[in-house]
Amino acid sequence: MQDGPYAADIERVVVSATDIQEKISELARKVEADFQADASSPLLLVGVLKGAFVFMADFARELRHPTEIEFMAVSSYGSSTTSSGVVRILKDLDRDIAGRHVLVVEDIIDSGLTLSWLLKNLASRNPASVRVVALLRKPDAVKVPVEVPYVGFDIPNEFVVGYGLDYAEQYRGLPFVGVLKPQVYGAA
Ligand code: XMP
Ligand code: MG
Repeated sequence: MQDGPYAADIERVVVSATDIQEKISELARKVEADFQADASSPLLLVGVLKGAFVFMADFARELRHPTEIEFMAVSSYGSSTTSSGVVRILKDLDRDIAGRHVLVVEDIIDSGLTLSWLLKNLASRNPASVRVVALLRKPDAVKVPVEVPYVGFDIPNEFVVGYGLDYAEQYRGLPFVGVLKPQVYGAA
């Protein structure tokens, strides 16, 4: 664990910074291999804000394939901790994706409802393909029939922060993924 303003708030590291970086190399090699036939056409990486911004930055720098970078922001209605599957676009893509190979870059798949909505929405824009790379996946994701060809880590069903993920907008800058001490939630 790192020193710093949040060190005292972390109960446990779930995925270390080193393991994340190694996994990103692995994922990048797989994506490169799968898109080798289209080596000259840029892959359109679509990061889902805000959580995916750190993963996007590291993944895009590791990937040895031309890319264009886009972001979308979506919000799912429902309580702050469970998603309902009803999704609203807060920030849409800035361009047409018709005929493009799209790779959605996600921080974490929990129920999978947000992602399955997003994939349908993107598919309706007639891209050449849409795939997903997710750094983390929780156990409930198995209930939703969404195929995610590139997954970094399957993690336990606990609320995690760090590496882009927040609690009350904090902790996104941590280089690892971890669980907060219970008393942190009481204090917010
Ligand atoms: P669903 O359930 O639709 O939701 O797959 C995925 C989104 O929920 C958020 N999420 C989390 N955010 N720590 C977080 O900081 C977590 O443990 C966590 N689990 C789900 C996240 O925004 C993700 O995109
Ligand atoms: Mg959040």
